[in-house]
Amino acid sequence: MTSTDIVILAAGKGTRMQSALPKVLHQLAGQPMLAHVLAAADTVANGKKIVVTGHGAEQLEQATATSGSIFVQQTEQLGTAHAVQMAVPHLRADAKVLILYGDVPLISPDTISKMLTAVSAKNISLLTINLDNPMGYGRIVRNQVGEIDSIIEQKDANPEQLAIKEINTGVLALGTNQLIEWLPQIGNNNAQGEYYLTDLIALARANGYNITSIQPTSTTEVEGVNNRIQLSQLERAHQLQLAEALMLSGTTLADPSRFDQRGKLSAGTDNFIDVNCIFEGQVHLGSGVRIGPNCHIVDSIIGDGVEIKSNTVIESADIGNFATLGPFARIRPGTKLGKNTKVGNFVETKKTIVGDGSKINHLSYVGDAELGENVNVGAGTITCNYDGVNKHKTDIGDGAFIGSNSTLIAPVTIGEQGFVAAGSTLTQDVSASALAVSRSKQRNIEGWKRPTKKDS
Ligand code: UD1
Ligand code: CA
Repeated sequence: MTSTDIVILAAGKGTRMQSALPKVLHQLAGQPMLAHVLAAADTVANGKKIVVTGHGAEQLEQATATSGSIFVQQTEQLGTAHAVQMAVPHLRADAKVLILYGDVPLISPDTISKMLTAVSAKNISLLTINLDNPMGYGRIVRNQVGEIDSIIEQKDANPEQLAIKEINTGVLALGTNQLIEWLPQIGNNNAQGEYYLTDLIALARANGYNITSIQPTSTTEVEGVNNRIQLSQLERAHQLQLAEALMLSGTTLADPSRFDQRGKLSAGTDNFIDVNCIFEGQVHLGSGVRIGPNCHIVDSIIGDGVEIKSNTVIESADIGNFATLGPFARIRPGTKLGKNTKVGNFVETKKTIVGDGSKINHLSYVGDAELGENVNVGAGTITCNYDGVNKHKTDIGDGAFIGSNSTLIAPVTIGEQGFVAAGSTLTQDVSASALAVSRSKQRNIEGWKRPTKKDS
């Protein structure tokens, strides 16, 4: 049994979500719940993923088309055993099979690994947990010597069984050959008229198998989502875990309850993150980074000692060491800021390389541009990169000075140490060290009379 087939049940309608979107496509930490389960399944060596779909099957397949999963449809939801039966044609003989649920998104690779390790020729493994309030769950029935004998569903349980606090999480692992042999023996003679996968446990016992119970490290691993309240609770619990991991690795959070990570975040040490920051996709923070409140950082690399002031948005950018950004800066895809650069308030950059020590301090748009080192871009400077049809480039050499409110009509090049007078509209290149003045000369009209209001 060196390979494992992972069957993920996701056929349910999720009525209580009150949604046109299939339940398992609702997002947790920025990803569909099902994607979390698939990612956990991907940690299994020699694994093969089989997703059982039903309601919204097409949407589900589309949304996870690149996951390398096999999709099988369960057109009628006749119970969990019936759902697993749909996957049987795709199961490999002599393998292990692991059952997961699309609406139980936070199962951990560690728990999965423990489950699979416990599976042997005479043993199956079951993920159980003790709950103060076991209401609604299948109860774990143990014999006098403490061995698991069966699972009894809430609706079929007697008062004595209802008092049992150890519940079935639904996650289970066993030999594929046994599953294929026992599944057809499961009937639907129970309170719900469903084919219960949980009946496998009693069948395993009847066939002389032992059941090993494994417990998850955290209850969030086994919490299912049935409505949007539960989704939000699981989201916050998960975010708190991510926040705590970040703090333990050396980053201070002003308030871990106001932190959101929707993807992968790696970080050095001695960073400080103020409240309400969102990290999306793949983000890396160096060390000694300070991030002010309300920043949104997506798919970016932030160097050491960078200071990001409040309300700054950064997407697909590379920020060099000791750069200072914001407040209210918008750094769009393809921006690469060098060391010790400054991008100040109400500045938008896009597809722009900014050399070390250069500054764009106020109210500018700089797009499709390349700035050398120690360039100073004055307030209100605009690169006119778009002629209505095509995009053009602006090149600014080392040490150049762009006066405030300049309009740089691309394609245009400003040579090293070039100087552009404030308020200029450049349509021609500026050679190195030259002064470009491109604006009408000031005339003062002495004794000029203001217009007067006409009688109407
Ligand atoms: C199931 C278990 C119960 C356990 C609980 C944990 C059974 C009989 N009972 O109960 O012991 O405590 O999970 O949450 O297994 N599904 C399908 N096709 C079906 C039926 C269900 O794909 O025909 C999927 C659902 O979409 C859902 C999952 O299987 O994701 C569980 O089904 P659900 O009906 O919610 O099971 P429970 O009654 O909660
Ligand atoms: Ca049910």
